[in-house]
This record gives sequence, structure tokens and C-alpha cells, in this order.
Amino acid sequence: MQDTVEPDAAMREVLQTGTQKRAWQHGQQVLIVAAALLSCASVLAQVSHGGVAEALAPPAVPAVSTQPSDTGTTPVPYRVNGDAIDAPLTATPGDAARGRAIVANRRVGLCLLCHAGPIPEERFQGNLAPNLAGSGSRASTGQLRLRLVDARRINPDSIMPAYYRTEGLALVPPALRGKPILDAQQIEDVVAYLHTLERP
Ligand code: HEC
Repeated sequence: MQDTVEPDAAMREVLQTGTQKRAWQHGQQVLIVAAALLSCASVLAQVSHGGVAEALAPPAVPAVSTQPSDTGTTPVPYRVNGDAIDAPLTATPGDAARGRAIVANRRVGLCLLCHAGPIPEERFQGNLAPNLAGSGSRASTGQLRLRLVDARRINPDSIMPAYYRTEGLALVPPALRGKPILDAQQIEDVVAYLHTLERP
């Protein structure tokens, strides 16, 4: 007659380890989300000309200058034509090498939080968004420009930050209001870089 179903010691251990493992996995997920949020916060915070973000973030070693937007000026007006902004935001043509450095830099563009790209020296690239390789074959420069300026004009549910929009945003600290994440020239540099990325 065997009607007690007390788990024996070995079974108890298996059950316990299972629970711990689930708790650990859950903890890991929470940590990953927290890390992503922190990184996003630093992209926003750093346009406040250094300050706290400067103190917290590890020193960046950009190949070329990728200083955050420091213009402090009102964004230049632009005209959206369908799914594109056809006219460049600046008179100076974009510089693809500078654009690459902005995309690769975790404190300026932060693109690699979500995207992977043909930037082999950067580890831990994102997988929340399409690979940037081939962007230049998939979209015109005008389409790439609007995507960067305000991705939600294309997909209202997009999680991609609006890099050159200052209106209609929530929770922007007063010091950062009216300042886009990237300045107009940086947008042009990134567009120039993406334009060079032909289908692999
Ligand atoms: C928080 C996540 C996130 C960040 C940061 C981000 N993106 Fe995106 N991006 C997306 C997602 C998601 C998509 C897919 C379309 C959509 O949902 O809007 C996308 C789409 C794109 C596309 C179109 C891709 C295609 O081929 O359809 C380009 C180009 C692009 N992003 C470039 C960039 C660049 C350059 C940066 C940095 C300056 C950047 N993104 C930063 C999430 C992000």
C-alpha cells in the first residue's frame, strides 16, 4: 500500500534546482531589460553636454570626432515627401566615415543596441531590428533620412528613437528640450554611411 507521494530527497533537489533555474532566468531577463533602458537613458542624458553621463560612461575612443549634438540651436526645418525627406538637412554633404563612427559609438548613435551591422570590431550587437547591412540597397537616401529623423512617421509603433525630432516627446528633461539626439550634420553623416551599405 503506497499512497503517500512524498518526493524523496533526490527528487526534491531536482524540483528545487528547477525553481532556482527559472528564478535565475527571470532575473537575467529583468537585468537585460534594465541594461537596455539604462543605455537608452544615457543616449538622452549625454546630449546634455556631458554632466552625469560623462561621469558614468566609459571613455569612448571614436576613430573620428563623434561628439554629441552641441549646437543647442532649433532643428532646421525639413519637408516630408511621402516616406522620405528628399532634401539634405545641411549644405555640407554627409561624411560616410564619420557616419560609421556615429553608428558604432554606444554613446552617440546607440544603433547597435537594436541593430547588427557590418562593424566587426563592435561586440554584442543587437537583434531587435533588421541588420543594417544592405540598408543602402533597400532604401533611397531620402527614405533613410526620414527613418533616422522620425521613424514613427513610417511605423507608428516603432521602438526606434526619433533622432531628429523634438516635438511631441514625453519625459524629456528640461535641459534637453528642443535638442535632437543627433544634429543635422550627424544625420547627414549617418545617411551617407548607410547609403554605402549595399546588399552583402
Ligand atoms: C531601440 C531600438 C533601435 C535603435 C536604438 C535604432 N533602431 Fe533602427 N530600427 C529599429 C527597428 C525595430 C526597426 C524596424 C522597423 C521599425 O520597427 O521601425 C528599425 C529600422 C531601421 C532602418 C530600416 C531598416 C530596413 O532595412 O528596413 C534603418 C536604416 C535603421 N533602423 C537605422 C538605424 C540607425 C542608423 C540607428 C542609430 C542612429 C538606429 N537605427 C537605431 C530599432 C532601433
